[in-house]
Amino acid sequence: LEPQERPPSPNLGFRPIELIEMKARGRFGCVWKAQYKTDIVAVKIFSPQDKQLWQTEQEIFKLNHMDHENILHYIGAEKHGDNLHAEFWLITTFHEQGSLHDFLKANIVTWQQLCRIAHSMSRGLSHLHEEIPANKTSGHKPSVAHRDFKSSNVLLKSDLTACIADFDLALIFEPGKSCGDVHGQVGTRRYWAPEVLEGAINFSHDAFLRIDVYAMGLVLWELVSRCVIHQKETESENENSQSYQLPYEAEVGSHPSLEDMQECVVYKKQRPAIPEMWREHKGMALLCDTMEECWDHDAEARLSAPCVMERIVQYAQFSGV
Ligand code: ADE
Repeated sequence: LEPQERPPSPNLGFRPIELIEMKARGRFGCVWKAQYKTDIVAVKIFSPQDKQLWQTEQEIFKLNHMDHENILHYIGAEKHGDNLHAEFWLITTFHEQGSLHDFLKANIVTWQQLCRIAHSMSRGLSHLHEEIPANKTSGHKPSVAHRDFKSSNVLLKSDLTACIADFDLALIFEPGKSCGDVHGQVGTRRYWAPEVLEGAINFSHDAFLRIDVYAMGLVLWELVSRCVIHQKETESENENSQSYQLPYEAEVGSHPSLEDMQECVVYKKQRPAIPEMWREHKGMALLCDTMEECWDHDAEARLSAPCVMERIVQYAQFSGV
């Protein structure tokens, strides 16, 4: 959807936040660029039927240790309007570059940029997954699974490092407590791991973290597919030969059904294609191995998010365009 202008609110005098421009529309509602005093902020607006998502997202943001470079910064939450016409607002830092998905649609990346984005993104997911015990200065941080990890939920800061956003489906794992009766099939079908597509139930804590890592493998593929190293070789043949595609877009198209995804990912065990050319660069070849280890059919064989992060630090040492 094109960004929309919205006329100033009639009760602007009582409302310190002014919505400026709609930036994204999603399953939950929409995200606006807004002015709060002298700052530009992002406002995510939930409708009354999605009040629970607004509450979940606040709960996640308010956990100890969530103020982290690679996690979107929370500012506050507000309820607007009366009960019949209520809007539930979640206010965060605004990032002008938008999501990684938007960025990759419009840009190709150098090897250095790719490593910077991939490292900061895996650092954000590692931090989310990590359980941190209480110490003298701060309380315990439980492990959190994202459950809707994808390139449109990774935002890019102006220095091209990533921060993770959209925690409205996230799950908190409190030690000693079961995560209750949770449904596995939430989030975005295209990024569902094979075990989610199969409708396996009773996922454990580790199983939820592995589902996030599978999705991160797909996002690493999106990044590599837009890297200048192999783009250069085809540029002269056809300027648009390497236009951006979502993971599995070549295999299942733009609007795959559950059956399309099951057929492709579970039964045929297909994964996004890795052309030979991508392995000509040493660092990129290693990154391709890593993404394959993230999206392994066997969930237990997948890497952990901190392991992906550590590997990317090593790959960044290889020179590249
Ligand atoms: N899209 C979703 N959340 C955003 C944010 N905080 N900044 C910019 N674009 C966004």
